[in-house]
Amino acid sequence: YADNSFSQDVVQWQKLHGRHSLPWQQSRDAYRVWLSEIMLQQTQVAAVIPYYQRFLTSFPDVVSLANASSEQVMAHWSGLGYYTRARNLHACAKRVTQEYAGVFPHQPELLAELPGIGRSTAAAIAAFSYGARAAILDGNVKRVFTRVFGIDGIPAVRAVEDDLWQRAQALMPEGKEQIQAYTQGLMDLGATLCTRSKPRCEACPLQARCVALATNRVAELPAKKPK
Ligand code: ADE
Ligand code: SF4
Repeated sequence: YADNSFSQDVVQWQKLHGRHSLPWQQSRDAYRVWLSEIMLQQTQVAAVIPYYQRFLTSFPDVVSLANASSEQVMAHWSGLGYYTRARNLHACAKRVTQEYAGVFPHQPELLAELPGIGRSTAAAIAAFSYGARAAILDGNVKRVFTRVFGIDGIPAVRAVEDDLWQRAQALMPEGKEQIQAYTQGLMDLGATLCTRSKPRCEACPLQARCVALATNRVAELPAKKPK
């Protein structure tokens, strides 16, 4: 897709049909973007919203979160699950406060060294906060890519994952202007159309190029790990 048409289809769809009013989309503040991305790693949007808002009321910036007690942080997280995220969140706030004077670094490579921030979350934070041209590849995006490109392998297998990352890198829009709409568009496609069960292919901007749809393999992809 040297022609950029994949990313343009995603960007155009995001502008017309993607989500635009989520609380964390109202700000480019890296602290807010980071907090939302950590909460959204393993929790659905609707469940995250009230937690996100209570967190911001009590801890409006990264320094106030760093200075809170573990008990206060855990009390605010209580009910969201996957509590390692809360411990990493607090540790990350302390490191950003101490090592970066309270300013999240701009480079995805530096973000990915912080507790709780993997490669895809680092890219999302860099793209949404700073407009960096960085590729995401979360579970939803892996599902979209395996279907669009008809990839049979199990995404958790290293060689398959490496291939998916290379595609993610190659498919980004050429300039930085569209990176936010593109990144949000991929997330929204995976969450609202290209869902695990009953995807809505008839409404999908990628239907004309989707290998899984053309070969009747949508229900089989992505391949599951053998049990
Ligand atoms: N899931 C992960 N990141 C998200 C975001 N920024 N908006 C909606 N859902 C998400
Ligand atoms: Fe997913 Fe269907 Fe779109 Fe293919 S056409 S990417 S399977 S929603």
